[in-house]
Amino acid sequence: MTQLPGLLDTDAIRKDFPLLDRIVHGDKKIVYLDSAATSQKPRQVLDALNEYYERHNANVHRGVYTVAEEATALYEGARDKVAAFINAPSRDEVIFTKNASESLNLVANMLGWADEPYRVDRETEIVITEMEHHSNIVPWQLLSQRTGAKLKWFGLTDDGRLDLSNIEEIINEKTKIVSLTLVSNLLGTVNPVETIIRRAQQVGALVCIDASQAAPHMVLDVQALQADFVAFTGHKMVGPTGIGVLWGRQELLEDLPPFLGGGEMIETVSMHSSTYAPAPHKFEAGTPPIAQAVGLGAAVDYLSAIGMENIARHEHAITEYAVKRLLEVPDLRIIGPATAEDRGAAISFTLGDIHPHDVGQVLDEEGIAVRVGHHCARPVCLRYGVPATTRASFYLYSTPGEVDALVDGLEHVRNFFG
Ligand code: ALA
Repeated sequence: MTQLPGLLDTDAIRKDFPLLDRIVHGDKKIVYLDSAATSQKPRQVLDALNEYYERHNANVHRGVYTVAEEATALYEGARDKVAAFINAPSRDEVIFTKNASESLNLVANMLGWADEPYRVDRETEIVITEMEHHSNIVPWQLLSQRTGAKLKWFGLTDDGRLDLSNIEEIINEKTKIVSLTLVSNLLGTVNPVETIIRRAQQVGALVCIDASQAAPHMVLDVQALQADFVAFTGHKMVGPTGIGVLWGRQELLEDLPPFLGGGEMIETVSMHSSTYAPAPHKFEAGTPPIAQAVGLGAAVDYLSAIGMENIARHEHAITEYAVKRLLEVPDLRIIGPATAEDRGAAISFTLGDIHPHDVGQVLDEEGIAVRVGHHCARPVCLRYGVPATTRASFYLYSTPGEVDALVDGLEHVRNFFG
């Protein structure tokens, strides 16, 4: 078996993930290479969900009875865990949403309804990048259409990185908000967000970071990052679906208006007007995703016990090996950095002129699960002149043997299509 320096004890880790034992197509053990779409879940998270529903299920912040108080303590305890995981200065800066898309839409809508000095209007500009997931493009297009603000973006270099050559022109005195991904879900690129944040600070613009592909894989320290908002989702970091996070700086959360109105986000309500609860509750209208937050708390415990530095080291070793092995496959073109430096563990590629859907289907027959398509980042495909890509993405449970299986599977695809 291939051994690489820095690998985690995947034999032990994989025992925690029941799905990784699945057999598909009769006798093929699953090779799960789609963690950038959603990660698998360890028993510890599944048990936390079960235990919550079996023993503590009640609505939060409302009941005075024992089980309701337990549910509230578990939900708010999950907020404490997430705050510690991202080194937030205050637990009140952690807002639970249903996913990263909702977190990003929340920021766009807070700004859309804001007064000065945050007001976005036809005199102002919004900046994104060409490598964003649709969830970090469409909310800003909507905001731009509604307010008249100009939408601008950083383009991409041929090797899959941000082209920052015109940073002073793109981010200027008119810029109100810069929203970009820390790690691209399609290209795998890790962006130099510090440079962009520094420039935004010079002109007084806010910065929102989409950390969906970063939070599961590396140390995420919001104080070191110095952004204004950070969005991510639970299901890519061994947590359940239906839970996302928006971290925001406290003074912004105090100043900015709510987006959704409803129960529990208020202080008082009369038939004429309402006042709002302090953050984070101001932004959590209605019954929140309670069990999902509890599951995310268990996920954070699980990742923290292994250590995010150790997970990052493991993934770097796997990615380096995968890039090397994939480049040995004839006709394979990596879309994104063809190196393990400053890149995450999602690797997109094309294989000659075989359509990615065909690649994915033949791989599936071998038990290999990859994602094919535009990965909700269609402008990236347009930029590189491809209709779609095949994407293999790795995580803490991925092994060098699975990389080998992928490379063998691609050989099979090539033979199949002649
Ligand atoms: N955003 C997820 C992906 O990249 C769904 O696959």
